[in-house]
Amino acid sequence: MCGIVAYVGPKDAASILLEGLQRLEYRGYDSAGLAVVNAKSLKTRKVKGRVADLAAAVPAKFKGTSGIGHTRWATHGAPSDVNAHPHLDQEQRVAVVHNGIIENADELRRRLEGEGVKFESETDSEVLSQLVGRMVKETDSLREAVSRALKSVVGTYGIAVIDAQRPGEIVVARNGSPIVLGLGEKEMFAASDVAALIRYTRQVVHLEDGELAVIKADGFNTFTSDARETAKEPFTVDWDAGHYDNGGYEHYLLKEISEQPDTVARTLRGRIDDRFHIAHLGGLNMDARETRSFRRVKIIGCGSAYYSGQMGAQLIEELARIPADAEPASEFRYRSPVVEPDTLYVAISQSGETYDTLAAVQELKRKGGRVLGIVNTVGSAIARETDGGIYLHAGPEVSVASTKAFTSTAVAFALLALHLGRVRDLSPADGRRICEGLRRLPEQIKEILTLEDRIRDLAKKYADSPGMMFVGRVRGYPVAREGAQKLKEISYVHAEAYPASELKHGPLALISPELPTVAIVPDDELLDKNLTTLGEIRARHGRILMVGHRTSEAADDCIVVPKNEVELDPILLTIPLQLFAYHAAVALERDVDRPRNLAKSVTVE
Ligand code: AGP
Repeated sequence: MCGIVAYVGPKDAASILLEGLQRLEYRGYDSAGLAVVNAKSLKTRKVKGRVADLAAAVPAKFKGTSGIGHTRWATHGAPSDVNAHPHLDQEQRVAVVHNGIIENADELRRRLEGEGVKFESETDSEVLSQLVGRMVKETDSLREAVSRALKSVVGTYGIAVIDAQRPGEIVVARNGSPIVLGLGEKEMFAASDVAALIRYTRQVVHLEDGELAVIKADGFNTFTSDARETAKEPFTVDWDAGHYDNGGYEHYLLKEISEQPDTVARTLRGRIDDRFHIAHLGGLNMDARETRSFRRVKIIGCGSAYYSGQMGAQLIEELARIPADAEPASEFRYRSPVVEPDTLYVAISQSGETYDTLAAVQELKRKGGRVLGIVNTVGSAIARETDGGIYLHAGPEVSVASTKAFTSTAVAFALLALHLGRVRDLSPADGRRICEGLRRLPEQIKEILTLEDRIRDLAKKYADSPGMMFVGRVRGYPVAREGAQKLKEISYVHAEAYPASELKHGPLALISPELPTVAIVPDDELLDKNLTTLGEIRARHGRILMVGHRTSEAADDCIVVPKNEVELDPILLTIPLQLFAYHAAVALERDVDRPRNLAKSVTVE
């Protein structure tokens, strides 16, 4: 989604802003722009296209020591030079970049136009620059002008504002869309994502909803919307710039798939207790008595995070024998859910900033729900809002399609299920079995990665199909859903996932030689039932790619992965499907890391 970067300090702002914008490219965007303050005037450049196009459009003499930059993902008004940010007020004194959506933009626009204001763009964001432009004449404080402007606004925003009359100062504000400050040596940064500032500093401060900050080269001050100063403690991000490099891989996605032996090991590190065969999860902030008191677990997340939640629900039911289910956070938040005191809620998010998930967490908290977070990004909004949780420690995920965060989330759920199980009825012997299985995962993932050449050939073979069906039963169903999600997301091949048991209740009508099926067939108690399903597909002349622990004559092609404990097998079965989707997308010459219409972190409704 849109990206913001801001800089104030002694260096050339434009080059720092361009570098920051490049680091935000992974989030998905369609246009880019920047503005700097120089000799009490604003210099602005905006283009439809890539950050490289913007860099080419910025003249050599574009000097300024404070400025703001933006990558836009169009919501109001088509991608165009004029709709790109920053937006200025009509006197060209104030420039604003904005992430989020201003819901009452039409009404504000009509009111301002009635007062004689001329708008340049079709965006909702321009009302902000025009409002601040009017307010800044009524007060000698830019913070006060921004604060007054925001009082008339309904909607979500992360903004950065500069004023030509105040070269050494930037005001940023947050409501529902992330803003993080970066503290440098006699220079300050702000951005919507630490990726934009990690090359310069790892000392950061996150703004809360409703907060504003004034940043200057020598420091920052934060305020509530009613102008009370707030105290903030900086913390050190444990990722560095190297984590954002592609490591010599052709795509970030392949790098992130290949990293999984390490990322899974990091999620597990220090969390397995061999004495009592339980998981150490200090971040849950719950004692054994409280942990035993829950009678239900409800998991929420969006997209792949939701599918990993389905895997998690299965693990919790099996190992802890607590009823558990997963639901898209985007649906949960709109349906006035019944929030019960004996239910443990778990919110999942790689970014920790997905607006739908954050809003669902806030709704739960309002209703007194106990919410844990399974989050990758330390210090992110969802991590801050939840009562406790588990960090994935998977490192930054840059490619839009989630891979390593998915597997680490499933592993985190296995740890949570083990923990909940061992304070209930899971026997020490079963606890030991799961601990040993978890320890085997990194080596087994390495083994699966050696299948890449074969999976590439299979992906080429199936990539030109008009669509693919993915089926799995019980433990295999979330695997099938995530496999279909990966394929459609990055290759644009239509992919539909069904529980294998549901096939004969409708979708079997679709089966034909033109619609191949990827069948998830683990060696578990449902093996025979799954093999029967393969027979049904074959009888309708459907082609089958089977992913499981053995080969079968019922399938045209098979990918065989190493076997772990039945409860943990879904984690391993996911990985060949990631490689399959990746190589299908490469074969179809797709923009693998930045699939069309998608953004890495969906910070709007
Ligand atoms: C996954 O491949 C997708 N890019 C998407 O479904 C993603 O998982 C979803 O938007 C949730 O993101 P989050 O984990 O950052 O909350």
